[in-house]
Amino acid sequence: MNLAQNTILLTGGASGIGLALAVRFLQAGSTVIIVGRRADKLAEAQQLHPALITRVADVADAAERTELARWATATYPNLNVLVNNAGIQNRVQLTDENADWDTRRQEIVINVEAPIHLATLLIPHLRQQARAAIINVTSGLSFSPAAFVPIYSATKAALHSFTLSLRHQLKPTGIAVLEIVPPAVNTDLGGPGLHTFGVDVNEFADSVMARLAAGEEEVGYGTSEQARLASRAELDERFRMMNNR
Ligand SMILES: NC(=O)c1ccc[n+]([C@@H]2O[C@H](COP(=O)([O-])OP(=O)(O)OC[C@H]3O[C@@H](n4cnc5c(N)ncnc54)[C@H](OP(=O)(O)O)[C@@H]3O)[C@@H](O)[C@H]2O)c1
Repeated sequence: MNLAQNTILLTGGASGIGLALAVRFLQAGSTVIIVGRRADKLAEAQQLHPALITRVADVADAAERTELARWATATYPNLNVLVNNAGIQNRVQLTDENADWDTRRQEIVINVEAPIHLATLLIPHLRQQARAAIINVTSGLSFSPAAFVPIYSATKAALHSFTLSLRHQLKPTGIAVLEIVPPAVNTDLGGPGLHTFGVDVNEFADSVMARLAAGEEEVGYGTSEQARLASRAELDERFRMMNNR
C-alpha cells in the first residue's frame, strides 16, 4: 500500500503497536486519527506527536462504534483506511467456576465483534474512496493458540478467518484487506510488565511498514511469520512447545 496521503482511523492508537504504526503513517505523510478509551493516554500521544488527531471511544459499545464511524466519515470525508488494532488479552483459567461471564465476554467483543462491526459500518464509505484499505491486527496465536490465553487466541483465529473472507468479498469493490500478524511484542498488552519478553515494538513496526509499502497483504515478524506459513505438523509442534507439553 501507499503509506502517504491516506486518512486513517486507527483503533487502540495511544499505545504499543497502534501508536508505533500511527507515528509511522504520520511520518510517511498520512493523516491519522487514533481512538482509545483513556483520554489521558490519547493526550500523551498527541503531546509527543502533535499532528495526531485523537478521539475517545470505547469500541466494546455498539452505539459508540456507530457514532465513531458517523463522526469520522462526516469530519474526515477523505477517510480511506481503517486499522482495527484495539485489543485486550486476559489470562483465563477455564476451570474457574467463579469467573464472571461479562469480563470474559469483553475479550470477544473488543477483539472480534468490534473490528467486524467497524468494517461493516465503514465499507459503504470506503468503497467511494480511492486507495481504500481495511487493516486487521491479528496475532501469531491466530494460527496456534497459547492455552493460558484461550479466549484471546480464539478471538485472533476468528479475526484471521474473517480477514480472509472480507478480502474475498471486497475484491470487486477495490478495498484492499490487509493483515498484520504480530508475534509477542514488548507492549502493555494484558497489563504492564506482562509482555516484556516480546520483540521491540519499533523494530516490529519498521518491518511491518516496509512490507506493507512493498505491497504484501499478510505480514508477520519472526515467530509469527513462521506461524502464518507453517504446516499443520509445524503448528502442532508449536502448540506443544508453547504450552509445555
Ligand atoms: N503485544 C503483543 O505481543 C501482541 C501480539 C499479537 C497481537 N497483538 C495485538 O496488537 C494489538 C495492539 O496491542 P498492543 O500489544 O499494542 O497492546 P496495548 O499497548 O495494550 O494496546 C491496545 C490498545 O487498544 C486500546 N483498546 C483496548 N480496548 C479498547 C476499547 N474497548 N476501545 C477502544 N480502544 C481500546 C487500548 O487503549 P485504552 O485502554 O485506552 O482503550 C490500547 O491503546 C491488539 O489487537 C493485540 O491483540 C499484540
